[in-house]
Amino acid sequence: MAQTYDAKRFQTKRGQILNRSYLTALTGVLNVIRQSGSVVESLLDIPCGTGRIFETLLSKGVRPVGADISLEMMKASREKVSDNHIPLVQCDATAIPFKDGSFDVVTCLRFLTMYVPPEVRHLIFKEMGRVSRGWVIIECRHNSRWSDIWYWIATRIFGKPPVINYFSRDEIKQELQQAGIELFRIFEPYGLFSNKWLILGKIIR
Ligand SMILES: C[S@@+](CC[C@H](N)C(=O)[O-])C[C@H]1O[C@@H](n2cnc3c(N)ncnc32)[C@H](O)[C@@H]1O
Repeated sequence: MAQTYDAKRFQTKRGQILNRSYLTALTGVLNVIRQSGSVVESLLDIPCGTGRIFETLLSKGVRPVGADISLEMMKASREKVSDNHIPLVQCDATAIPFKDGSFDVVTCLRFLTMYVPPEVRHLIFKEMGRVSRGWVIIECRHNSRWSDIWYWIATRIFGKPPVINYFSRDEIKQELQQAGIELFRIFEPYGLFSNKWLILGKIIR
């Protein structure tokens, strides 16, 4: 999968357009953090996959560290990112091998958009909150008309209900709070026709 991951998702015409819009939104989130007076120099991206956001981070003066459970996915980042010295760490997102408050920002993108059970999500949020000294950025899916339509199509036409976490604002707010993170702001990286959110959370200690 590591070999074809980028080609299938981000290198088709549609994939390129969506990815550009996503990276622009991510840059906007980083700007909001900076405008709030916080420093954004170090960032842990977990799971980093093939390093999709690395170039954008470097161009914005951020020093990324990547972490992922898959060595193969991380290896693919070495072939495409201009800076070959970005530290990469193989680990599970529920047990991040860094000290408390090691990074200005911790991101978790395109991971909780798939199904992750609540007890595992809690561990991930806790770990993100622990190793960040300021902020977290989390991508997730929210309840919307589109989620309802997709649920209907998957169930009625394909006979297989999708197994995905759909959050309401209150649900994600509550889950983050239980991990010591305050819901600061919600961004819509693909506009209104998508059920994906970028959540900006602030660490509360
Ligand atoms: C859909 S990819 C997203 C990668 C990247 N964030 C992006 O936006 O392209 C999901 C990644 O999660 C990693 N992964 C799966 N389970 C994990 C875990 N328990 N801890 C850390 N990484 C994990 C996979 O290896 C894969 O690279």
